[in-house]
Parts: sequence; C-alpha cells; structure tokens
Amino acid sequence: MQVFDTKQFQEELLDWYEDQKRDLPWRRERDPYRIWVSEIMLQQTKVDTVIPYFHRFMEAFPTLEALATAEEQEVLKQWEGLGYYSRARNLHQAVQEVQEYYGGNVPDTEEEIKKLRGVGPYTAGAVLSIAYGVPAPAVDGNVMRVLSRIFSIYDDVSKVSTRKRFEAIIRSIIAEEAPSDFNQGLMELGAVICTPTSPGCLICPVQAQCAAKEEGAQELLPVKPKKKPPKTQHLTAGVLVDREGNVLVEKRPDTGLLAKLWQFPNVPQEEEDSLFPPEAVIKDPSWMQVRHVFSHLVWEVRVVYAEIDAVDAVGERQRMVSMTELEDLPFSVSHQKILQSLKKQRQGENQN
Ligand code: ADE
Repeated sequence: MQVFDTKQFQEELLDWYEDQKRDLPWRRERDPYRIWVSEIMLQQTKVDTVIPYFHRFMEAFPTLEALATAEEQEVLKQWEGLGYYSRARNLHQAVQEVQEYYGGNVPDTEEEIKKLRGVGPYTAGAVLSIAYGVPAPAVDGNVMRVLSRIFSIYDDVSKVSTRKRFEAIIRSIIAEEAPSDFNQGLMELGAVICTPTSPGCLICPVQAQCAAKEEGAQELLPVKPKKKPPKTQHLTAGVLVDREGNVLVEKRPDTGLLAKLWQFPNVPQEEEDSLFPPEAVIKDPSWMQVRHVFSHLVWEVRVVYAEIDAVDAVGERQRMVSMTELEDLPFSVSHQKILQSLKKQRQGENQN
C-alpha cells in the first residue's frame, strides 16, 4: 500500500461526513453543557436510545445551572432506564464543580476539563473538539475499531497503552481546522460503516487508505480480550403490602451497583426467610419472575407477594409508600418491571 496520506484521509472523511451525517439533536448546537450531556449519555448507549432521554433531560435541566441546583434523586429519575447510573451522579457533581470553580463555564482546556468528575480522556476530547473546536483526540471503542483497521493495529484495545497509542495517532492526523467534524466523522464511520461485524468496506469513504481492507483483515480487528461469561445471581424480592395498599421500598447503598436507586427489598434466594417480617402472610410465593442482564452479571429474581402489618419502625433506608409516591422515586429497570406488574394488578382490582 502507498504511504498514508493524511491530507487525502481528512478530505475523504470530512466530505463524506458533511454529506452523510445524521441529523442528531446535539449536532444542532455548540452549547458545551448540552454537548457534554450528550457525550455522557452516548457512552455505552446507542444513539437511538439516547435521543428521547436527551430531549427530556434538556427539558428538565435546560442549563448547567439548572442541573447543578437540582436534587440528585431528580437527576437519577431523569436517567431512569438509561443504565450506568454513576454517569448521572458524576455529571451532577461535575456541573456543580463547574458552577463553583469556573463561574458556570465549562472549561476549554484539556488540563482543566479532565479534573472534573467523570470526565476522562474521551469526554474531554469530545467536548473540547465539538463545543470549542480544540484539536483534541476523542477515542472511544468505536474510534479504536476504525483506527485499528485503518492502520492494521493488533494491540489489545482494552489496554490503556493502546488507547494512548490511538490518541497519539489522532493528534498527528486530526484536521486542525475542523476537529469537531473530524472526530465526529470517525465516530459516524464506526457507527454506520465500519461496524463490528460485516463492515461496509465497499462503500467506505476511506477504503483506499485502509490497511485492514487491503489485507482482508477487517473482521479480525480490533483485538479484544475474551469476555468472561456473566455470573448469575438468584434473588428473592418481596412486594410487601400493608392493609392500606402501601408498599415497602428501599434505597440501595450509596456506592456500588445501581447506587442510590430504589428497589423492592430483596436478598439472595438462600436467605429469603430474612426478607419477611414475622407476621407477614405470603399470598403468592412466585408472583412473578424477573430476569435482568447487566454487562457482567445476570439477575434472576423471584418475586414474592405478601401482606404485612403497617411497618412503622422500618430501617433508615426503607419506606412504606403509596403508589403515587412510588412514581417519583428512581427505580432500576428490573424493579420497574415489578412496579409495572403491581400497577396492572391494582388497575385490575379497581375495575372489579
Ligand atoms: N457517539 C459518541 N459521540 C457521538 C456523537 N457526537 N455523534 C454520534 N455518535 C456518537
């Protein structure tokens, strides 16, 4: 293959992006706050999933100040269902840092923006290039896939050293006068053409400069470590209802998986006796079954329906709430499924 021609690569990528780019909500603006929110939402999450969340979030928190002054539980409520909730908690804290230390203006240098909570090299580069036109690299998994193919690089993309290698490459080939379009062009290429399986090499705008295509190696790249199969946890959850129809719910711990989200009380299946107060009357031991797949873990939850006496001495993180109060609490997706069934059952009861 001829030597890599940076100018030609930039032109082919930028022309294609200008012509083919999808009309996405965050591409219509350059407000750094909005760009930032979009880039956080887009991590580990597909564009189609993000769009409605982005609109709702912007309605709820139209400015950085609005987000900074919101309650954390409100922020989690808006994030409900999007997953990876530490993104929301970190973003919330980070905009508060921007309010406090930068007068509400998102910093425009790599050094400063990377100090913000939850802002790693990818987010820093994305916000700087898209909102401020700074020629910084924004290397995520999609961009690594594209670059590993273009340059036929067989380094393990899960390693930090590999990401740094790709960042160095971007710094040497980025279009200095159009860093936003250049970075987003690479992301777009990864999303619509240079896909993980069956990449569309024949319609790729930079195929003439792709080493992997020339070698026929596009499907062998990128190199990733083998994934361990996810562990399965068997849990028992309780829908514990008092005579007034109030339900017992609890807030998850402040750290770890799904931190600070609400849920129905649950324990590992072998400890399920500990779930019920002594006077509980079990009405249905397998009221429903919920399965939820996380990236590294599967939950198999059997849900027991039981009646209890009104609990007043519940733990600090537990509450008896009405159905209306339940609506305002952020729930994890698996527990939203339980909530939906409970709502349906109540509607059925009201009609009888
Ligand atoms: N994925 C991450 N950032 C993106 C962006 N700005 N446009 C499209 N997909 C993306």
